[in-house]
Amino acid sequence: MSTVTFSRDDEPCELGEAAPLRPGARLGRYELIRQIGRGGMGEVWLARQSGGYGFRRLVAMKTIRREHACKPTFRRMFLNEAHLAASIRHTNVVEVLDLAEDKGVVFQVMPLVEGASLHELNAATRLSVDVVARIGTHVARGLHAAHTAVDERGRPLGLVHRDVSPQNVLCGVDGFAKISDFGIAHTLSAITVHAGKRKYMAPEQLAGRDVDPRSDVFALGIVLREVTRDRALASVLRCATAAEPCHRFATAADFADAIEDSVVLASAKTLGELVRDLATHRAA
Ligand SMILES: Nc1ncnc2c1ncn2[C@@H]1O[C@H](COP(=O)(O)OP(=O)(O)O)[C@@H](O)[C@H]1O
Ligand SMILES: [Mg+2]
Repeated sequence: MSTVTFSRDDEPCELGEAAPLRPGARLGRYELIRQIGRGGMGEVWLARQSGGYGFRRLVAMKTIRREHACKPTFRRMFLNEAHLAASIRHTNVVEVLDLAEDKGVVFQVMPLVEGASLHELNAATRLSVDVVARIGTHVARGLHAAHTAVDERGRPLGLVHRDVSPQNVLCGVDGFAKISDFGIAHTLSAITVHAGKRKYMAPEQLAGRDVDPRSDVFALGIVLREVTRDRALASVLRCATAAEPCHRFATAADFADAIEDSVVLASAKTLGELVRDLATHRAA
């Protein structure tokens, strides 16, 4: 039995005897293989799902970081993330397939994106504008799907991601990019938690005012400007990052269209090979 205590949200929690997760550990139908990522909130593991008749497949599993696991706010945000991400179905969004708890560990299961984050890709190589344009349109289309997601009764969720950053853009070896990590996403009904990476935040979000889809448009504009200074995208990115929301693209889909009108996108093969080269380099 673990001796985890509930502490105030701003205090470090007592970890008690709760064992850290290790390769080989089993949580429900999943066996942990190795840790593949770590963010502010979660640990992400490569895991093997097994089922009847010898069914097996690799998935990504996210758990709340141990030091945050007993904080009610983090737990609520983690559960909120899983519920929101499960309501979006789009090629350019990392969905949540399962949410469960075993041995006191709450975990989300996602499809495994074999590849690298935009942060890693940008650190490893200078990205050409056509590659940036491909990634940018994919993320903008994924965000638009999130912004227009509805609940089971068809009512708009009013979702805003609020943490669009290079670490949360995953690029696959298949040449497709996806937006992930709805950890601090905000809905019409949600309480406001001041979180996210300040560097990419829209002025209205920084000021604690209401956010809307245009706040994500702003953040994506800053992300793309960080990875390319090419003139072909300059005016589109200027519009996306206008200080006043009313001067930005009205929707993320409009932003994607404007990128496509300005630059011929790299092919899936080109982006896929870049990502594969990085993965090979990392493994060497
Ligand atoms: N579905 C996935 N497939 C592969 N890697 C992933 C997946 N989800 C997350 N990761 C890796 O784990 C890192 C942290 O995940 P993230 O969801 O952003 O956690 P946090 O909420 O803590 O920021 C990502 O930057 C990425 O490298
Ligand atoms: Mg993250």
